[in-house]
Amino acid sequence: MKGLEQEIARRRTFGIISHPDAGKTTLTEKLLLFGGAINTAGAVKSNKIKMHARSDWMEIEKQRGISVSTSVMGFEYNGKKINLLDTPGHQDFAEDTFRTLTAVDSVIMVIDCVKGVEIQTEKLMEVCRMRNTPVLAFINKLDREGRDPFELLDEIEQKLNIKVRPLSWPIGMGKSFRGVYNLFEKRLNLFEPGKAKITDNQIEFEDINSPELEDYIGENAAAELREEIELIEGVYPEFSVDEYLNGEVAPVFFGSAVNNFGVNELLNCFVQIAPEPKSRETEEREVIPTEKDFTGFVFKIHANMDPKHRNRIAFIRVCSGKFERNKFYHRVRENQKMRFSNVTAFMAQDKEIIDEAYPGDIVGLYDTGNLKIGDTLFESNGSNFKGIPAFSPEIFKEVINKDAMKTKQLEKGLRQLMDEGVAQLFEYEMGSRKIVGTVGALQFEVIQHRLKEEYGASVAFQPQNIYKACWVSAENEKDMNEFIKSKRRHIAVDKDGKYVFMAESKAWLQMIQDNFPDIKVHFTSEF
Ligand code: G4P
Repeated sequence: MKGLEQEIARRRTFGIISHPDAGKTTLTEKLLLFGGAINTAGAVKSNKIKMHARSDWMEIEKQRGISVSTSVMGFEYNGKKINLLDTPGHQDFAEDTFRTLTAVDSVIMVIDCVKGVEIQTEKLMEVCRMRNTPVLAFINKLDREGRDPFELLDEIEQKLNIKVRPLSWPIGMGKSFRGVYNLFEKRLNLFEPGKAKITDNQIEFEDINSPELEDYIGENAAAELREEIELIEGVYPEFSVDEYLNGEVAPVFFGSAVNNFGVNELLNCFVQIAPEPKSRETEEREVIPTEKDFTGFVFKIHANMDPKHRNRIAFIRVCSGKFERNKFYHRVRENQKMRFSNVTAFMAQDKEIIDEAYPGDIVGLYDTGNLKIGDTLFESNGSNFKGIPAFSPEIFKEVINKDAMKTKQLEKGLRQLMDEGVAQLFEYEMGSRKIVGTVGALQFEVIQHRLKEEYGASVAFQPQNIYKACWVSAENEKDMNEFIKSKRRHIAVDKDGKYVFMAESKAWLQMIQDNFPDIKVHFTSEF
């Protein structure tokens, strides 16, 4: 299996995360430019949803078109195959981002030097921590008057609960920004704003005590830099790649993405230290990428925008073995055999039909509505991959069918939208009332609009007084049955038929936990 091992060893699959506006889209584009994957700026469209648009769903539809082409951007760089996975910027689509993070091996986190660590970054970092995903930080917008770099590093450590190790250090900031000293490669990288060429102005500079430093950045800046580097070397332990790979330390780079500054060194360090495809846990065992037989899972489904062609693209992360076009694979759920002839790989802006793919790669499979998020595909034997749990939504609304003639279409539409992961559906045991749960308010507009456009069904939504949907379990069946019986009015089932308790308030949930000690309450669907 030499070929397989070599292919795995050269793959780097990662995502960029940030709070909206920190510079994720800009950095993505610059990485592609420096990586040689695209030639012109402006090629990567922002997947931001601009809330001021009069009809939000129009904006969302537009974004759906854009997000297919930017879902995965693959390119070759320095002998490595890089797969960059896009994550939605808008917080209402946070669940999409969470799921995408299950398909990457590491992340680059962008932080705005003026704003520091923001709320969305904190939330995304929590997801990275769940799987000890290695994180590399890029502090952006150094051309602006930002916060003190030491203060920013402290804030990352405190708010994101991870140790940091600067691998580059800024010389000045805002108007006085002169460049960075690259501690990883021992180079001086001088800043020239608005420089058109995609090359960093780098100078080999082993010894910052050399008097030449003054010639480049002047006396004051040189003195300050020497002092700060001394402080860094004293305060922060030497950078350990192993600690980074274990998710214990985040190396930090400084730069300005829009000015092409600091991106090259970030990319060069990334390809040197970022992890190759890792092993992944299934319900039964750990799957190692070098295993001969193919396994993979669906982490994203994208519906076709043209209602006349109802096919969808399911995005599969290859976890082990070689994926081959036209070969029969099993799906764990319902143990069904499936074969895919239309298989797409994503290379920067282009899609291309491929015959095979390796661990770390993402392939797009055209599907007519069979696959759903979390589905595992395998060649010989397999069980579901863990790590794509559903979390309790924040907003709950009952689905009101406004056109009884279209009940069937509504059922189908709802099921397919839920398979795509647009929202979660809970069905009450009593009265079969259907409750849609989402993280953000925008999804209700998306669902209403798409049900109408794609399935011809009309719905309204009625707000519900629900605080959380909690999955419940018990050691023995009798306890569970008794609980279900006594709380039947508040019991629903999720898409997999698992019991969910719809708690109206925090206090009430606490009371249930006190009164039914044999019932375990879970805040995610994976327990
Ligand atoms: P996002 O995907 O994380 O939401 O951020 P995005 O890249 O869209 O960047 C948000 C804004 O920050 C953009 O400005 C972008 O040009 C700007 N930006 C990115 N990197 C830097 C940087 O290094 N320095 C400075 N000063 N600004 C930066 P915008 O006005 O919202 O959009 P645009 O009209 O410039 O595209």
